[in-house]
Amino acid sequence: MINYGKQSIDRTDLKKVKFALKSDFLTSGPKVNEFEKAFAKKTSSKYAIAVCNGTTALHLACLAVGIKEGDEVIATPMTFAASVNCILYCGGKPVFVDIKEENGLIDETKIEEKITKKTKAIIPVHYTGLSCNLSEIKRIAKRHKLIVIEDACHALGGRYKNSKIGSCKYSDMACFSFHPVKHITTGEGGMITTNSRELYEKLKILRNHGITKNPKQFVNKSDGPWYHEMQELGYNYRITDFQCALGLNQLKRLETFVRKRRKIADKYTKTFEDDKNIEIIKQSKDVLNPHHLYIIKVKDKKIRLELFNHLKKNNIFCQVHYIPVYWHPYYKKLGYKKGLCKQAETFYEKIISIPIYPDLKKTEQNKVINTIKQFFKK
Ligand SMILES: Cc1ncc(COP(=O)(O)O)c(C=O)c1O
Repeated sequence: MINYGKQSIDRTDLKKVKFALKSDFLTSGPKVNEFEKAFAKKTSSKYAIAVCNGTTALHLACLAVGIKEGDEVIATPMTFAASVNCILYCGGKPVFVDIKEENGLIDETKIEEKITKKTKAIIPVHYTGLSCNLSEIKRIAKRHKLIVIEDACHALGGRYKNSKIGSCKYSDMACFSFHPVKHITTGEGGMITTNSRELYEKLKILRNHGITKNPKQFVNKSDGPWYHEMQELGYNYRITDFQCALGLNQLKRLETFVRKRRKIADKYTKTFEDDKNIEIIKQSKDVLNPHHLYIIKVKDKKIRLELFNHLKKNNIFCQVHYIPVYWHPYYKKLGYKKGLCKQAETFYEKIISIPIYPDLKKTEQNKVINTIKQFFKK
């Protein structure tokens, strides 16, 4: 069986997790700190805050900048629901901007027409790993005094122009996921990077029930060494020490993981770029895509399902990333209607994510390619 994505766990990962499990700390111990420091260094950001998944990273990022009822936030429909749900968690209203058909990324030229007096933030998603046009998004955000929160869950190890994704050169925060299909894994896990000391302090408190143990931040007089204060309504979004031990060890192999993913992507691109039945995602010259996903677009959308089933019959389990977010019944109930983002809808009808992960063997890559080719020969 070949899945569209899969973790890569080696003996050193097992050793590090075992060691952490046998230590004095199962959660909120030294490995969390170490992982955060290493991650900040890797992404060239000042601060990193580890949380229990990418969804909570996005939720905390929205909370930290004060998204609340009545606020509008610019979102993309071509993403996992979590990129948009975080706005709803805070009482905000997602405002969808259509995508560019050639790559599935938010169309930055259509952002400004959706900005109103209520707009507070933009959440661009680096879909498949390909970075959005961050310099243009930053320019728009600056002009309208908006916050930028990058959903970088697909893009760890990527670059935009000469900056690393996560460096927050063009944003206030960037959010990552360590779900098993992502570039590195901690089982479940996530991270927020930022260059703002203020946001960093806020995020740390929000991650832990809104509690601070730092005497400098106390509102009331301390009663003694045990004293702490709950100052905001926060959450338990903490991550465990043994997950961070795994994350730290995985992070050391990030470059290898990205190199392997890019090699597979290159092979698929060479195979399909001139195929009359398939379109591939257009890459940009100034972006290094670490390829969380590899998407093919079936030119004749009527046979997408048939191809998907043909692959499944051959034990190749693909996926479709994504159903436009506002097509989901929950969003429909909120009043979003089909037809809202035409490019995203057309895009959705053609796409299939084919297998890509570091341990995907050459024979398996060839099987994926040959099974697709064989389908179109029929
Ligand atoms: C673009 C995007 N954002 C957010 C998330 C949420 O991450 P997690 O599953 O770690 O909560 C995902 C997860 O797949 C994602 O793909």
